[in-house]
Amino acid sequence: MGGDVTTAAGVLPYRDARLPVAERVEDLLGRMGLDDKIGQMTQAERLECDEADVTACRLGSVLSGGGSVPEPNVPEAWADMYDGLQRAALRTPLGIPILYGVDAVHGHANVVGATVFPHNIGLGATRDPGLVREIGAATAREVAGTGITWNFAPCLGVVRNPRWGRTYESFGELSELPAAMASYITGLQGGPRVGPPPSVMATAKHFLGDGGTDGGDDQGDTRLSEAELRALHLPPFLEALRLGTGSVMVSLSAWNGVKVHGHRYLITDVLKGELGFTGLVVSDWNGLDEIFGREEFTGEEVRAAINAGIDMVMVPERWRRFIEVLRDEVTAGRVPMSRIDDANRRILTKKFEQGLFERPLADRSHLPAIGCAGHRALARRAVAASQVVLKDARGLLPLAPGPRRILVAGRAADDIGMQCGGWTISWQGSPGPITPGTTILDGIRAAAGPDATVVHDAGGAGIEASFDVAVAVVGEEPYAEDEGDLPGAMGLDAADLETLARLRGVGVPLVVVLVSGRPLDIAAELPGWDALVAAWLPGTEGQGVADVLFGAAPATGRLPVTWMRSAEQLPITDGDGQEPLFPYGHGLPLRAAGGVTG
Ligand code: GLC
Repeated sequence: MGGDVTTAAGVLPYRDARLPVAERVEDLLGRMGLDDKIGQMTQAERLECDEADVTACRLGSVLSGGGSVPEPNVPEAWADMYDGLQRAALRTPLGIPILYGVDAVHGHANVVGATVFPHNIGLGATRDPGLVREIGAATAREVAGTGITWNFAPCLGVVRNPRWGRTYESFGELSELPAAMASYITGLQGGPRVGPPPSVMATAKHFLGDGGTDGGDDQGDTRLSEAELRALHLPPFLEALRLGTGSVMVSLSAWNGVKVHGHRYLITDVLKGELGFTGLVVSDWNGLDEIFGREEFTGEEVRAAINAGIDMVMVPERWRRFIEVLRDEVTAGRVPMSRIDDANRRILTKKFEQGLFERPLADRSHLPAIGCAGHRALARRAVAASQVVLKDARGLLPLAPGPRRILVAGRAADDIGMQCGGWTISWQGSPGPITPGTTILDGIRAAAGPDATVVHDAGGAGIEASFDVAVAVVGEEPYAEDEGDLPGAMGLDAADLETLARLRGVGVPLVVVLVSGRPLDIAAELPGWDALVAAWLPGTEGQGVADVLFGAAPATGRLPVTWMRSAEQLPITDGDGQEPLFPYGHGLPLRAAGGVTG
């Protein structure tokens, strides 16, 4: 163990911020026992541990899973929670701070009042890496406001089948889009490498092939040759490494039948060896459990995952058992100490780079950034840029403000929860007024102007020939991960179909706005719609949709995925020889009508 020799600063070397990080890491590592090192590799869910556990077990990390929020769910309570856990970490013998991780995947959307940006599929439609970098920077400021320094984002999965419940977390079906939008990392981290807040450590996820599983089955099997896997799914991670992502998360899926969580070739030989990744590799939620198909993790699976190259283990509930099992594996010589030390070097390096030893507690000067007007204006701009006009047969768009009668219908017209989608306040998200924002209806009312008559009825009741236009905002209820997988039909649900039929019956021009995380099977209904706009999952700033509908912003969005003519075609991707309803890259341009977005 390291001696008590102090530096000129009068502190132990690892505590001297003037020393190079590598020196501080080696000094600290030399002072750590096996319990310290195994604790550093353990990430527990906040609901499954308390401050005493963090101290007693020397935990290296704590996370909030989707929707795991303090009560009350307000920014100050998040910062208090973070500081409490961090103070507990500082009470350990070596005082090593924790890394706290959260899924701020479209803004810090677990937090009520945070700015919720469009989900990645909409950002892919913008084709604007600069905009996505700005969103990363704004998200970092809001995450830093709660003290947190690690974001499990961006998802760089390449979605190859929209049946996948995580389609909306992908920037697109060709690796060119996720690779371009890895610019998010630069925004989030503040530059080519992670640093002190408001820099927040990025996580390129999920390595490798999460979006390519057979049938779009989340956590399923990606059956590709190595050449195909590298060509289709690796480019976004090459870009993420080039941009300096601090961490990479392993995919829960398998490659040709082998779970990636136990895949030494992919994690160690390719990611760390061939590609030279020096950051930390984190497992996904209970990712060790099913490496060999059994329910809970075994010693064999812990050994496989750690020896495959996983450094930090997200083992939310059974983290105590994990610590015991890993200690047994190391003591028995089945996990070499060199692997434990490599993992610790990677983890400690990030903690030193983030300045956590010098400034372990939340910097509350960032609190006002949460949900601020500037971020909401950025989100509104992103929403407008993500709208894709798929059809406008009668040249209805943009709608003219002024003395017109507009009927607005559809379950998603006046519903913040629907327009935000999953990973918002709760893991799965939910309909309803779940967080402050502007609904699409609010936006239409404002854009139509004071002389317009805007009538809202979710079911479309009251439609009659006196209306100049009807706008139906329909689509998917929120979902996340495998709960959003669609192995069967992919059409609109009965309530939406009933509303649309009611609206079509009186000859009023009909504009359909589709709020969804993916293409849906709408070819049969499309002939009855005069215009169709894919709004994706826009988040809290719904007026960005109205900006395009009324011409305050141009329509420039283009499809990031192929839109199938029928679900029976799936999978259907660009260049596969099938005839889609709308091809990858499709989007009708609409000039701005000279309006101003504020
Ligand atoms: C989930 C997701 C992953 C997320 C993690 C923590 O299962 O697969 O994307 O970062 O668990 O919430």
